[in-house]
Amino acid sequence: MKTKDLILDILKRNAGSYISGQRLAEELNISRAAVWKAINSLKNDGLNIEGVTNKGYRIVTGRLKVFNYNEAASTNDLAKEFALSHPDTDAVFVADCQTKGRGRRGRSFFSPGSTGLYMSLLIHPKADASKTAHLTCLAAAAVCDAIEEACGIQTQIKWVNDIYYRNKKICGILTEGQASLEDGLFSYVIVGIGINLCAPEGGFPDDIKNKAGALFKDCAPNGSVSDIKNMLCNSIIKNFFKYYNSSDEKSFLSRYKERSMLIGKHVEILSHSRKNMLERSSFSADTDENQNPRVLVTGIDDSCRLLVRYPDGSAAALSSGEVSAVPL
Ligand code: BTN
Repeated sequence: MKTKDLILDILKRNAGSYISGQRLAEELNISRAAVWKAINSLKNDGLNIEGVTNKGYRIVTGRLKVFNYNEAASTNDLAKEFALSHPDTDAVFVADCQTKGRGRRGRSFFSPGSTGLYMSLLIHPKADASKTAHLTCLAAAAVCDAIEEACGIQTQIKWVNDIYYRNKKICGILTEGQASLEDGLFSYVIVGIGINLCAPEGGFPDDIKNKAGALFKDCAPNGSVSDIKNMLCNSIIKNFFKYYNSSDEKSFLSRYKERSMLIGKHVEILSHSRKNMLERSSFSADTDENQNPRVLVTGIDDSCRLLVRYPDGSAAALSSGEVSAVPL
């Protein structure tokens, strides 16, 4: 990698913050003059790099617009509506509660007031599905990093993008987007994130009470939940863009794999797509169409696919779908 690319990588990883010339020189083991030369070269490449005396350099990216609501039907819907009239503006929509919170596979997402963080990130990747497919896993890694940073809590990822704490789901992610039929490029992608900070008064509704959990036992008084919510939201945005802007497209992958909770476990494939079956390396007649297949999870590959082994020894890479851990 060229010096200027290494510098760009550091500036992107610290998006928004100033990094001194001295620090850049030390980190890369080069002279201040070499830093200066590389910065000028990046500016000549058209990058907007700001240099301020006694502070250093920072990359100036388009400002992210943040919209806060007390109540919304769904922050993903707000983002979608905004995207239609603002084709290039990245934005974040945050609501204290949602009346029609949406989950994956057409399900609803329970979003009561004052106990959770419901946010949607609107971005414009101008890339095709091969580049955007991993965004949902990237977001899961960023959310785990943010929860650790803002709350000091270690969470785990259940493939594809549910986040668990103490064996309960505390966060779901719904990624939606619009691609052009002409060139296949996404004009926008919306990453909707819902986190249960604390259990609602009276507990979770019956249909989710066995599965849903929260980061904290109680919603502490004195507004501290709203402080945590703000810190968490800022940290999610920071960590998301750290991975998203990284020159290494797969920089989130090691964090994602590290936090994956299914590796080595037996799971039942709940939504078993035809595509998944076709990817199976060998095929035997053991497949009972009426039963969910049970498989052993052997890993996650660099395309975020779940690697599984069937009882007959054949292997498959699942690129979508839902699985549930099987109690042994
Ligand atoms: C899931 O677990 O099925 C995904 C849940 C995603 C919920 C979030 S909350 C913010 C955003 N707005 C929505 O309507 N859904 C997402």
